[in-house]
Amino acid sequence: MVRSPSDKRRLAILISGRGSNMQAFIDACAEGSLPAEIAVVVSNKPDAAGLERAAKAGIPTACVNHRNYDSREAFDAALLACLAPYEPDLVILAGFMRILTPVFIEPYAGRLLNIHPSLLPKYPGLNTHQRALDAGDTHAGVTVHFVTPELDGGPPIIQAKVAIEPGDTADTLAARILEQEHRIYPIAVQWHLSDQLRLTAEGAVLNGELLSHSGVVYDSLSKDHH
Ligand code: GRF
Repeated sequence: MVRSPSDKRRLAILISGRGSNMQAFIDACAEGSLPAEIAVVVSNKPDAAGLERAAKAGIPTACVNHRNYDSREAFDAALLACLAPYEPDLVILAGFMRILTPVFIEPYAGRLLNIHPSLLPKYPGLNTHQRALDAGDTHAGVTVHFVTPELDGGPPIIQAKVAIEPGDTADTLAARILEQEHRIYPIAVQWHLSDQLRLTAEGAVLNGELLSHSGVVYDSLSKDHH
C-alpha cells in the first residue's frame, strides 16, 4: 500500500460484542473531532453486533474466530495476518474479550490500547463492577491503558471516576461508567495520533511527562492535556 504523508492515521478496532466504544470512534471520526480513518473492525466472534454496526458505517470488517485455532499464539498470528494489509497506525481494543500474547502485542508495542472498566490497578480481569460494589468502594470507573503482556497491567493513560450511589447494581454502575468510556477513549487516541502520547520503559508519557499509576484523571484535565 502506497501512502502519502497527508494520509489520515489508520485505526484498527478489535471487538467481541456490541461495539458501543467502537461506535464512539466512528462518530468522532465522522464529525472530525478525531482526524483518523477506521481502516478495519475485527471481531473474534462471528455474531458480534458491532460488526453489523461497522458495516453499516461503510467500514471494512473481518472475523478471526478464536475457535478455529488451537492455541492463543496461533490465533494471534492469524489476527496479525488479518490486520497487516490495513497497515494500522494504532490498534484499539474495544470490548475485545481475548487475552493476547506477545505474538500480537510485540509487533504493536506502544501502538496498542485497551479500555478496562475499573480504576486500575484495582480489579484487573472480569466482573469489575460487582467487585467494586462488593468491596464497598465509594467510586468505580474506567481506565484506558497501553497493552503489555501483563493482563490489564500496562501503563494507564487516562481514567474517569464515577461515584457509587446507594442502590447501585452492577448494571446501573456499568451504564454510568460506559458514558465515561465513550468520552475518555477518543481523548487517549487523539493524544496518541497527535504524537503527544507514547509508551516508554518507565511508563506512559504525555507531553514529555511521565504519567502516574492511574494516568490522567479525566475530571481534573488541565488545558495542557487537551
Ligand atoms: C466496555 O465496558 C469495556 O470497558 C469493556 O467491555 C465493554 C465493551 O463494551 N472492556 P462495547 O462493546 O464497547 O459496547
